[in-house]
Amino acid sequence: MTKFKTLDDLGDIAGKVALVRVDLNLPMRDGAVTDDTRVRASAPTILELAGKGAKVLLLAHFGRPKGERVSTMSVSMTLDALQAVLGEEVMFVPEVAGPVVEQAVGILQAGDIALLENTRFWKGEEANDPAFAKAIAANAELYVNDAFSAAHRAHASTEALAHLLPAYAGRAMEAELTALDKALGNPATPVAAVVGGAKVSSKLDVLTHLVTKVDHLIIGGGMANTFLAARGVNVGKSLCEHELAATCEQILDAADAAGCTVHLPYDVVVAKEFAANPPSLRTCNVHEVAADEMILDVGPQATEALADVLKTCRTLVWNGPLGAFEIAPFDTATVALARSAAALTAEGALVSVAGGGDTVAALNHAGVADSFSYVSTAGGAFLEWMEGKELPGVTALER
Ligand code: 3PG
Repeated sequence: MTKFKTLDDLGDIAGKVALVRVDLNLPMRDGAVTDDTRVRASAPTILELAGKGAKVLLLAHFGRPKGERVSTMSVSMTLDALQAVLGEEVMFVPEVAGPVVEQAVGILQAGDIALLENTRFWKGEEANDPAFAKAIAANAELYVNDAFSAAHRAHASTEALAHLLPAYAGRAMEAELTALDKALGNPATPVAAVVGGAKVSSKLDVLTHLVTKVDHLIIGGGMANTFLAARGVNVGKSLCEHELAATCEQILDAADAAGCTVHLPYDVVVAKEFAANPPSLRTCNVHEVAADEMILDVGPQATEALADVLKTCRTLVWNGPLGAFEIAPFDTATVALARSAAALTAEGALVSVAGGGDTVAALNHAGVADSFSYVSTAGGAFLEWMEGKELPGVTALER
């Protein structure tokens, strides 16, 4: 694993000003935060730095204001959630650089915490402008990045700052990179990947990369229909990207060449309408789907076979649900396989890492998010990592 500095490498930081990049891009409803997972993830880093006597300046983006001050996207909307999780008062500063921040630093005592305004209110952020980064860095003495979920962006607060100040990975970033290294960087083999979700087109690069990295690729969700159709299966009215048949063939050929076994369902749960427990619900072989039916979940026999595959593996990477898990009973395969993975993890037989988009919601729904070895809070960054791409925010720390 490539090396980066962590908070263990900090010397005496009492009274020093630390810029800490966190991810406060939180889901909100009616002005209130509906999920504070990302705040809880970064709390240990913030409190450790404050505990060591640093003056902590938090940097974060919120939404996509595109270089303008948009009042509904002020990062101050997250202040209550931040203070509640930290159990500390946090000063809000409506700038990220210049005399207002300088003044705030003068007021802060050692161990105090301040939140700077949304970095994306300034065009220099997304442009990764060195002059903008320099202006931010001017008020601080060290930089900590604890926002893996924003590390796929080469922005001033995620990338350029790491070149201007002594740079460290925060505790959440460190845990994330260690877990990801165990999952695909340097894993115990055999390795299985579960890739689900609606569309092959949104995960082409993920699939293409994974077939060269894992021993078993388990494809579920709407994506599996596209692969089944490419193999000549009539998928009826199922969600399916028929135009990607040739691409699916190429991925299957690449898997063959790399010695990766691709698992597609051979029995499926179908219905004529997408509704909870519809009267038309039935389970059948993939070759028996009627023209007016939709495949909505992996069937019980295939699910059992997939659980057996996991028993032969030492590492699992999971992204995306196996069926239309928001509606019962199409959550059955996802819940069953997630529970098998959790049980194997509890026995010490499997390292299980999950992340991206709907995945955390699906694992929470199955009641096993806490039983996986590691569940990432990242969406886009987790996917780019699964695609084998370099993450600029991580690379900058690893220099
Ligand atoms: C996220 O919510 O996944 C990160 O904060 C990145 O946000 P972005 O997709 O707007 O860059």
